Amino acid sequence: MKIVEQIQKPIAQEMALFEEKFRDAMSSKVALLNRISHYVVNRKGKQMRPMFVFLTAKILGNGKVDERTYRGASVIELIHTATLVHDDVVDDSNRRRGFFSVNALWKNKIAVLVGDYLLSKGLLLCIDHNDFDLLKIISVAVRAMSEGELLQIEKARTLDITEEVYFEIIRQKTATLIAACCSLGAASVDSNSEEVERMRHFGELIGLAFQIKDDLFDYTDGPIGKPVGIDIKERKMTLPFIYVLNTCQKSDRDWMINSIKNHNRDKSRVKEVIEFVQKQGGMEYASQKMYALKYQALTLLKDYPSSDYKAALEQLVTFVIERKK
Ligand code: IPE
Ligand code: IPE
Ligand code: MG
Ligand code: MG
Repeated sequence: MKIVEQIQKPIAQEMALFEEKFRDAMSSKVALLNRISHYVVNRKGKQMRPMFVFLTAKILGNGKVDERTYRGASVIELIHTATLVHDDVVDDSNRRRGFFSVNALWKNKIAVLVGDYLLSKGLLLCIDHNDFDLLKIISVAVRAMSEGELLQIEKARTLDITEEVYFEIIRQKTATLIAACCSLGAASVDSNSEEVERMRHFGELIGLAFQIKDDLFDYTDGPIGKPVGIDIKERKMTLPFIYVLNTCQKSDRDWMINSIKNHNRDKSRVKEVIEFVQKQGGMEYASQKMYALKYQALTLLKDYPSSDYKAALEQLVTFVIERKK
């Protein structure tokens, strides 16, 4: 059995119902919007975020989930989808989930508005049902994601990123949403603030590992359903690059900075940089950090009693790190 099927086994019913609800949540009376949201829903992603929501809810709800859990999962996936639509505008990327991105097909103007629409639909889903505790968790994540993407742009301009700032960027832009999945899953069935906080922390650690993995993909040949090598093109310095920058000799460092600053649109130069980062152990270093985060995250789960859900959540953690796309 494939790992994803195995992970989904204890939440198969929930995931099926979630998909229906998620589809409904996107509908609009505007024909163009409907067409685009169908396009988006039909190219579904890995749906890891709803899996985090349901599994954490099941662990804390002793095997049960609530209507609120479903709404939480839909809100998170709506927000995630909105940010991907916007992110592809920001990163000028034309592929997503193995096909054209929304901006590639309908242009930036429409992609910006579709992203806003999905975001507002997500927030309204909470408001319409008075789930203000969930709304707060989500809003904190949305704020952090915008700040993280903007900090990333700032650093792509100044090119003075440190490892510490890299971690701050990925915490904000990616880890807060996965943290929200886990705290919201917990909060949907159990209001004990200690448990909610533990799950938030767990999600944050996994979210960091998740983005390191995504950044590692950019240094491979794929296929991952979206462009590779695009980070350097966009002057994004990620962990493998930062590590090599900090450990190589000065002449190489100058060459790396000059490449990313002045030759980032030159494909063969970008390839040389990628090969240099690979040769200097940048990917191994980033992998080590990723495994350390996984270990820390799993430690936070150790006091929960064994169950199918806990086992599935642990497998989901492994999937985050071993996935092929
Ligand atoms: C992509 O997230 C955006 C990042 C935070 C790296 P996913 O890899 O979860 O995207 P989908 O939903 O599976 O396409
Ligand atoms: C994650 O960063 C983006 C969001 C948090 C929306 P990336 O720009 O690396 O994500 P991909 O690689 O385009 O999916
Ligand atoms: Mg991107
Ligand atoms: Mg990426």
